[in-house]
Amino acid sequence: MTGWMVWPAALGDKADLVRLEQQSFGDRSWGEKSLEGSFVTPGVTVLFGGKIKEAPLGFAIWRNISSEAELLSIGVLPHARNEALGAALLGAVIAEATQLGAQKLFLEVDAGNKAACALYRKRGFEEIGGRRAYYRDGSDALTMAVKL
Ligand SMILES: CC(C)(COP(=O)(O)OP(=O)(O)OC[C@H]1O[C@@H](n2cnc3c(N)ncnc32)[C@H](O)[C@@H]1OP(=O)(O)O)[C@@H](O)C(=O)NCCC(=O)NCCS
Repeated sequence: MTGWMVWPAALGDKADLVRLEQQSFGDRSWGEKSLEGSFVTPGVTVLFGGKIKEAPLGFAIWRNISSEAELLSIGVLPHARNEALGAALLGAVIAEATQLGAQKLFLEVDAGNKAACALYRKRGFEEIGGRRAYYRDGSDALTMAVKL
């Protein structure tokens, strides 16, 4: 579907972020403490996406570091996937980072995560490196970047 809304989330939305992230990532969840840090760390922004503000269906967390930006996490609830909400959230991060003067957006992704890799490649991300056995379960990470 098109016409997704994306809006900034604040500390008062912590419970929603914890739920969205846990349901998106399962045993790879960051956990409540790290997620709470996303709301109070300078340069870090949390975005929610969905049809109505009362019921967010996805989120993105990104960091702006002067001329560079980093996508720290992105997730969509399983039942809302494949309807371009991930693309809408990523598009919003790219737009905000560009507006703040970032020239490149970086991210790290599990090399075997087909859905995420497809989403990133479609938005112009290219592989710039990798880390073997980066994740707890032994899978490799790819580092990707797009010029803004
Ligand atoms: C990655 C994720 C955020 C994508 O969200 P989404 O809303 O389903 O993404 P979109 O619908 O915008 O899909 C983007 C593209 O990826 C493709 N895609 C989606 N699932 C796919 C799959 N399983 N295999 C291959 N491509 C896939 C879609 O086809 C789409 O391309 P298209 O428009 O050409 O069809 C979602 O799958 C998710 O939350 N996964 C679990 C958490 C996660 O892995 N996050 C990323 C960590 S780096």
